[in-house]
Amino acid sequence: MAIRLQKYMAQAGVASRRASEKLIVAGKVKVNGKVVTELGTKVNGNDFVEVNGKLIEQVETKEYFLFYKPRGVISAVKDDKGRKVVTDYFTDIPQRLYPVGRLDYDTSGLLLMTNDGELANKLMHPKYKIEKTYVAKVKGIPSNDSLKQLRIGVKLDDHHRSSSAKVKILSSDKKTDTAIVSITIHEGRYHQVKIMFEKVGHPVKKLKRERYGFLTLDGLTAGQFRPLSHNEVHKLEKMVSNKR
Ligand code: URA
Repeated sequence: MAIRLQKYMAQAGVASRRASEKLIVAGKVKVNGKVVTELGTKVNGNDFVEVNGKLIEQVETKEYFLFYKPRGVISAVKDDKGRKVVTDYFTDIPQRLYPVGRLDYDTSGLLLMTNDGELANKLMHPKYKIEKTYVAKVKGIPSNDSLKQLRIGVKLDDHHRSSSAKVKILSSDKKTDTAIVSITIHEGRYHQVKIMFEKVGHPVKKLKRERYGFLTLDGLTAGQFRPLSHNEVHKLEKMVSNKR
């Protein structure tokens, strides 16, 4: 989001808005190397603003968004192959946001986006055991035995087993030989849900993350996002505090 130059200067603590206007009119302010005397000039976080020859450091406000990632979008800030990335949805936000963790290209659902690296790193750390609920459409109808295996943990690779999970069949369809299964895990290994179902003989056909901790996709459709409230950010911070 672009804001007026004098507001940008005031936010960075250069001077009051009024005093910043005077500096602009007096030709003391450069934007991207060029003197600007127009008071209507707008700038954003990617612009270089100099006052009296000194570059202004904009103190970035921390931003937090809950995004409903559509299928067919990469959970990254850029892609070598030119595919759509999650930050393409946030071009009006001046802060440089990045995703908290990742969802596969073909997985849809809840993804947090922020520029708060400290909180993002904590949320991604396995020791905080943030619960994530996925809804998977799988091939076949898992037996009670398969569900039990998923619940107690399956071997993901030579070094890792999944920890305990909550698993429930939401519906099944004998005609198409598929089932819709809800699974809640608190780790986030690469392709974890797909591997877990693959290991019990029920490959995932479609995957969506519906819940992240206490947060849900309520009110959003694919491709939409909303800012987190102060209360929600505070709750997330509490979830990752007081643990060594
Ligand atoms: N597990 C997966 O297999 N894929 C995802 O995108 C998320 C969890």
